[in-house]
Amino acid sequence: MCGIVGHVGPKNSVEVVIEGLKRLEYRGYDSAGVSFINQKDELEVFKKEGKLQNLIDLLGTKKYISRSCIGHTRWATHGEVNDVNSHPHSANPISVVQNGIIENFATLKQELEGGGYKFESQTDTEVFLALIVTTMNSGKTFFEAVSSSFQRIDGNSAFVILNGDSGEILAIKRGAPLVCGTHDTHSQALVSSDPYALAGVVDRLYFPEDNVLISISGANKELIRFYELDGTPDCKRYLSKKQEMTLETSEKGKYEHFMLKEIYEQPGLVRALTQYYFTGDGVKHLEAVASLKPERVHVAACGTAHYAGMVVKDYIERINAIPCEVEFASEFRYRDPLLAKKDLGLFISQSGETADTLAAQELCQKKQLHTLSLVNVEGSTLFRNCDSNLLIRAGVEIGVASTKAFTQMALTGRLLAGSMAGQFKTDEGKKSVADKFSLLSERIDQLLARVGEIKDIAERIYQRNGFFFTGRGQYFSVALEGALKLKEIAYVHAEGYASGELKHGPIALIDDDMVNIAIVGPELYEKTVSNLQEIKARRGVIVTLGPAGDKILEEMSDYYIALDFSGLEELAPLYVNVANQLLAYYTAKFKGTDIDKPRNLAKSVTVE
Ligand code: G6P
Repeated sequence: MCGIVGHVGPKNSVEVVIEGLKRLEYRGYDSAGVSFINQKDELEVFKKEGKLQNLIDLLGTKKYISRSCIGHTRWATHGEVNDVNSHPHSANPISVVQNGIIENFATLKQELEGGGYKFESQTDTEVFLALIVTTMNSGKTFFEAVSSSFQRIDGNSAFVILNGDSGEILAIKRGAPLVCGTHDTHSQALVSSDPYALAGVVDRLYFPEDNVLISISGANKELIRFYELDGTPDCKRYLSKKQEMTLETSEKGKYEHFMLKEIYEQPGLVRALTQYYFTGDGVKHLEAVASLKPERVHVAACGTAHYAGMVVKDYIERINAIPCEVEFASEFRYRDPLLAKKDLGLFISQSGETADTLAAQELCQKKQLHTLSLVNVEGSTLFRNCDSNLLIRAGVEIGVASTKAFTQMALTGRLLAGSMAGQFKTDEGKKSVADKFSLLSERIDQLLARVGEIKDIAERIYQRNGFFFTGRGQYFSVALEGALKLKEIAYVHAEGYASGELKHGPIALIDDDMVNIAIVGPELYEKTVSNLQEIKARRGVIVTLGPAGDKILEEMSDYYIALDFSGLEELAPLYVNVANQLLAYYTAKFKGTDIDKPRNLAKSVTVE
């Protein structure tokens, strides 16, 4: 969701914040803005609708120098996308950026308007600004005004507030991500909604808990100070950790898009995962989950992570013979699910900050279930809140459409299932799984080497009207994920269906402008082929991802991607999924969409 960056220090804050915003643009890109104190000690605000580049163009070639600056990239919630609704929202000397939603904003707005406050924008953020400003006008300090205003609002948010008079930045959050960091030798401090903005800039990170007021100010020797809302200093409610993220991992390198780079990273990551968990630092974490003996498993996740959860369900039910349910976290949290203390709550997330997933974890924790995450970002809220964690080790994922994280989530789930089943007590047990992972990595490598074939198919089908992805059994989840990927980045109508379900309704849509991407594994082969015949009879365009050397299937299909399923068994869906990722990527490329920043989406959805 929205990206926030604030900086105080001797380096030019405007440059540092713009640099941070560039890294956070994947969190929202409806508009962007900065506010800072210029060299004449005046508060200046620049904001612009559209991508960050529009803001950079607005700032132009004039060099703005500042020691204190805040900035924002927006993913609109309240108020349409335009310059006025862009953040920061300012009323001299205060300037505010927000990530989140103020749920009681309408009531507060009415009250403030009744008192004569004139609003400029349609945003809920301006309500928080108005509360601060009116409280300060009544004689309270900046700190007191922020604290009391924050206590009046409902909903989950993170705010960063700049005081144009003093240059001090205050930051506070409830149920939304916020991280700050310092660099000892450069005596600078930053605050952000995402540690990624701080990579290479600070050497220590602090993850504050909810309702901790953070003061960042160059005026004090201590660059960052933490307070309770009542002003009690030296608050220790934060997690402190060394910054380990490097910048090289976050460059596109030779690839045109981050998404493509991330697809290509998969073979290496797959191999590294077993090394980490069988011989590296992950050994103790995998051993720790071996003692879990749940009666049921409840998986809650969103988007791609949810589909990875479906793959994990297959593993857990097959390997552990434990019933496992997978739900969208947004449904789970409001459904009053049947939860028992002996069950396991399993939460899957790349960012570890998805609001619905966090709420689902909280619900399970309240019901005293053991909560476990499969998560990418170490130190994220989900990571901190769960009883135990298995990192998926995907590295930084920038492409808004998730690719490598899906594969790593599913594979980490496979390791979890194996560990709970005692498969890794012996070296042979470990070796047999490590060999399978290694085979998967090899097959993905071979597939990536044939990218030209997939690109050619994408060129032939990208103008079609709609796409059905079909798969049976273990391939159903990747049919859903394949369709999600395509609609996310190519803006075409795409649905995933269980192969046998198509005839119960959706088949009415099949004509010669509809494409069926059919996943046909060696399992349930005949039945899936019969389903394909039904599409063929209705003149649908068939792209089959099927076994190599299958002449019958090849003849039946308009386009054929031959796959080598041998030996992959339960890992085969992850192999097929890479073909779907490439198909989505090239379809989007031919359509000319913004692949790394597709419209209306955000990488991490921190509002409900
Ligand atoms: C957003 C992203 C999706 C992602 C989902 C869950 O909707 O656009 O790509 O799958 O959030 O994110 P998480 O960080 O929890 O995996």
